[in-house]
Amino acid sequence: MVQFPAQFRWGTATASYQIEGAAHEDGRGESIWDRFCATPGNVANNDNGDIACDHYHRYPEDVQLMRELGVNSYRFAIAWPRILPTGRGQVNAAGLDFYDRLLDTLLAANIEPFVTLYHWDLPQALQDEMGGWGSRATAYAFAEYADIVSRCLGDRVQRWITLNEPYVSAFDAYEDGEHAPGLKDAKLAWQVSHHLLLAHGLAVPILRASGNPQTRVGITLSLTPVEPATSSAEDQALAQFADGKANRWFLDPIFRGSYPADVLEMLPLLGDLVPHMEAGDAEIIARPVDFLGVNYYFRTIIHQPAERPFGDYEIVKPTGAEYTAMNWEVYPQGLYNLLVRLHKDYAIPELYITESGAAFVDTVTEDGRVHDERRVHYLREHFLQAHAAMTEGVPLKGYFVWSLLDNFEWAHGYTKRFGIIYIDYPTQQRIIKDSGRWYQNVLAANGTVQ
Ligand code: FCB
Repeated sequence: MVQFPAQFRWGTATASYQIEGAAHEDGRGESIWDRFCATPGNVANNDNGDIACDHYHRYPEDVQLMRELGVNSYRFAIAWPRILPTGRGQVNAAGLDFYDRLLDTLLAANIEPFVTLYHWDLPQALQDEMGGWGSRATAYAFAEYADIVSRCLGDRVQRWITLNEPYVSAFDAYEDGEHAPGLKDAKLAWQVSHHLLLAHGLAVPILRASGNPQTRVGITLSLTPVEPATSSAEDQALAQFADGKANRWFLDPIFRGSYPADVLEMLPLLGDLVPHMEAGDAEIIARPVDFLGVNYYFRTIIHQPAERPFGDYEIVKPTGAEYTAMNWEVYPQGLYNLLVRLHKDYAIPELYITESGAAFVDTVTEDGRVHDERRVHYLREHFLQAHAAMTEGVPLKGYFVWSLLDNFEWAHGYTKRFGIIYIDYPTQQRIIKDSGRWYQNVLAANGTVQ
């Protein structure tokens, strides 16, 4: 039995657009994901978040399920367009009321809220009026939103997460076009990454000032260990750049006060990609945070064919490895490597795994259950790697399984199931999967078998 510390935070994670539904209720404004989903071809089956898991109405049942599982923490996101339907200005009290009720229900169940302010559902009005995160003004609108939310909810929230995965908000959304708003403009994507980091830094002191002396502020990054496929000079150079873009471009300005020099040197060679920055931005972005949220799903093995231009690369999928329904390699060792590296390279006071989990093809069998042994195995192996990193001195304080419920998996719609609780979408019935039952045992024992 591997034992975790008594104070360890065990939770599950979700995001507003992925579970709430009630997209047109109680004054919620349109988000960029509503608009993106409305364009045929953007999302599998042309799915959208209109109903999702109907969590907006069913949150009491969902909190009860969490209580049954025995989690002591829950990470969820607030939908900006519920609070400020047009992004700025007029506040929608009914939107705040929803989170007010959710928080009270969680606290009554002894579940600590970890609240993400931005998990990708930008008010569409900000996209229409100023190009969303392409505009510096959106960072200031975010600060306004952070102020409103923390003034109203800060008495009950001790852990704030400013942004979820700014890498994805910048590059999947503005360079690859696979996420809302679906643009393909590399230069803009790098600019967006800077504005997101600026938004984060602007919000840090605002959240801290929310009046609760226990307030702790952090950010969640998607991090991936990058490995060159071979020892060729091309692969080494590409791996260094890919690591710079995916990991250090976000870690360095927050924890070291400046963008990585090697990436800054490379960007002009790839085009006119260096984002516009203003004096003082670096200081804002580097305002000290209390913790880092780590989302880990896979490592990245990368190959640069010598005959192709730099950056025209291949992602290598090792043969013989296990893959999830997302075609993501199962690689628990990567979590250990990542945590140890973060601890060694950056002086981060506290780390949380704010997302870790896997999609598999889950079905309800005749006994009415979901026997997802592969997810049980996946979680156990990752928990063990996290524990091993802790024994190396990594200040890991909590672990949030992605996800509480099967939900709207962005461009994959409802085709990918990440939950430890199964959702039968037509009836909205919730069924705790075997992995949920297994997690329940881990939580009861505060540990897992090796
Ligand atoms: C992460 C997202 C989360 C979920 C998982 C599978 O990148 O933060 O919302 O979609 O991937």
